Parts: sequence; structure tokens; C-alpha cells
Amino acid sequence: MTKRTYKFSNASTDFYLANGISHLKKITDIKATVLITDEHVYKAHAKRFKGWDTIVLKPGEEFKIQETVDAVVEQLIAMEADRKTTLVGVGGGVITDITGYVASVYMRGLRFGFIPTTVLALVDASIGGKNGIDVGVYKNMVGVIRQPAFILHDMGFLNSLPQVEWENGFAEIIKHACIKDAKMFAELEKNSLKTYQGRQKSICELIQRNALLKTKVVQKDEFENGERRLLNFGHTLGHALENQYELSHGQAIAIGMTYACHISEQLTGFKQTEKVISVLEKYNLPTYAAFDKQKVFNVLKMDKKREKKEMNYVLLEKIGKGVVKSISLKQLEKIIQDL
Ligand code: GLY
Repeated sequence: MTKRTYKFSNASTDFYLANGISHLKKITDIKATVLITDEHVYKAHAKRFKGWDTIVLKPGEEFKIQETVDAVVEQLIAMEADRKTTLVGVGGGVITDITGYVASVYMRGLRFGFIPTTVLALVDASIGGKNGIDVGVYKNMVGVIRQPAFILHDMGFLNSLPQVEWENGFAEIIKHACIKDAKMFAELEKNSLKTYQGRQKSICELIQRNALLKTKVVQKDEFENGERRLLNFGHTLGHALENQYELSHGQAIAIGMTYACHISEQLTGFKQTEKVISVLEKYNLPTYAAFDKQKVFNVLKMDKKREKKEMNYVLLEKIGKGVVKSISLKQLEKIIQDL
């Protein structure tokens, strides 16, 4: 079993890449561990959960709320979970968020780890320690930054991943390429979703490259005062659209990236919008959308990237080079109205 350890400011995470859930018992004591998953993952992979105490949640972003957290806490109490219990989130971004959040507050903090089962969770949601819940239309409004003790990759879970979830995950991969990795952008232009789905080696390499890219950014700036902000490319507008228009996260940030490219044209002189749009389209992601500008701006201005009357907006100078620009809310309102 190969292990790579990455250090953060006051914790470290062990990555077990391409190993399989069968190795979990070497990492955590089966008698003192509770797995948290959702009905979709549990039904498709029941065998993988055999022998493990498991809490099964209803799937979907609409359940990433305090009520679910309360229900999990009640189940942990009923199971007599204590401070020596390890929680392991086996699922996509909703499961990793809820698991990391519950593990951070139950008895003031338990050890936790993740087995991400979607492309999005493998390259993004499982990494970085931000774990929280939504409050109404406000995404991730309440949460913590606390790093998982381990992340175990089991690519076998991807066998049951619906097509739309593949597309969802590729939105974050395209985001990484746009802000930091022009070479990967060129690779994405050349390939297609089919290429990656058809070749285990290519998807493994792509996932590990993205997991590493994000990990390195977080290592440099765990508490998001600088470089880590780049990971929010497409997310400011995307989050404001996501819960209001019932889009998947990937769809929402794809639209967010499209408009961020247009805002970049105005503010940084970015000239490659068409290239970004054609890659998004190639991976079956939406680009332009009709939305109520005022309604969306009213949600957007509550974004966590706001500092008083300024918003830290992520733009592109060129493909592979993201930058953060502080835009006054007044100017941003006008820009959004004119989009
Ligand atoms: N859990 C996702 C992140 O920290 O960015």
C-alpha cells in the first residue's frame, strides 16, 4: 500500500492513491470506525461496506443541511461513538462535507478520513479541509477548516458513476487547468471524456495530477489569504446560481467560469475566452445562462470572498494563470447587470 503524507499548518493527511477500500482496515480500527455514505453509493457497492458500521444518508445537495448533521449526531450517540471513534466519509462532495463537519463538532472533534467516490470528490471536495453545510440558498455558509487524517482512493467506485457526475467533476479539472496548468488545459483540449472513461491509466493520472495540484495550493495557503483564493475561479457567480437554479455544482461553476472569462476580458485583457468555452462544451458543460441578474447579485454579495464593500474575484490573465482582483461591490453589480 503506497502512502504519501502531505503536511498542513497543524495537521497532516496521508494519501493512499489507487488502493481500494479493502485496505481501510489497515488504516483504521474496524471496531472504532463509522462509515458515512449515501443511499446511491451504498446500494451500488453494498459488498464494500460489509463488516463496517455505516450510517446511510439520503443523497443530494439539498440534504447538506443542519438537519442532516443533527440526524448523524443522534445516530452516533445511539452507536455510542466516543472520542476514539474515526468517521470515514465514503461518497461525493456532500458526504465529505457532512462527515468532515460532524467529525469536527461531535465531542469537539474526532479523527476522520475520506474515500471519495466521484471525480469531483477525488480532485476537489475531499482535499483542503473546508467542510460545511448550506443555509438556504447560501452555499457552505457554515463550516470549518480541518484536514482529514487520510484520503483513500478506490477507483472501483467510479464504475457506477452516472455520466452527469463525470461531467460535474471535469468542471473542477478544467478550473484547475485554467488557473494553474496550461499543459493540462492542452491535454483536455486534445482528449475527451470518452478518452478518460475508456482508459483507467489516463483517468488515474489525471485525478492524481489534480489532487496534487489542489493539495499544493492548500499547503501554501491553508486559510485562504492568498493563493488558495484562485481555487474559487468560477465559484463566486457559480455558488450564487447553484442553489437558486438547482444546477449541479459543475454546471454552476462552468457558467461561473464562462462569465469570469468575460469579466477578465474587461479587467485583465484576457483573450482566450473562446478556448475556455470550447473545452467546457467539449466536456458537455453549460456556458451561458439566462438568470435574474439582481436576484443573483443579492446572493453573490454574501459570498465569503467579500471583504466589506470589496469582492475578491478570480480572473484569468491567460490560460494557466489565474489572478485575484478586488472589485468594489458597486462595480461588480454593474458588471453583472451588463453581462
Ligand atoms: N473540502 C474542500 C476544500 O477544502 O476545498
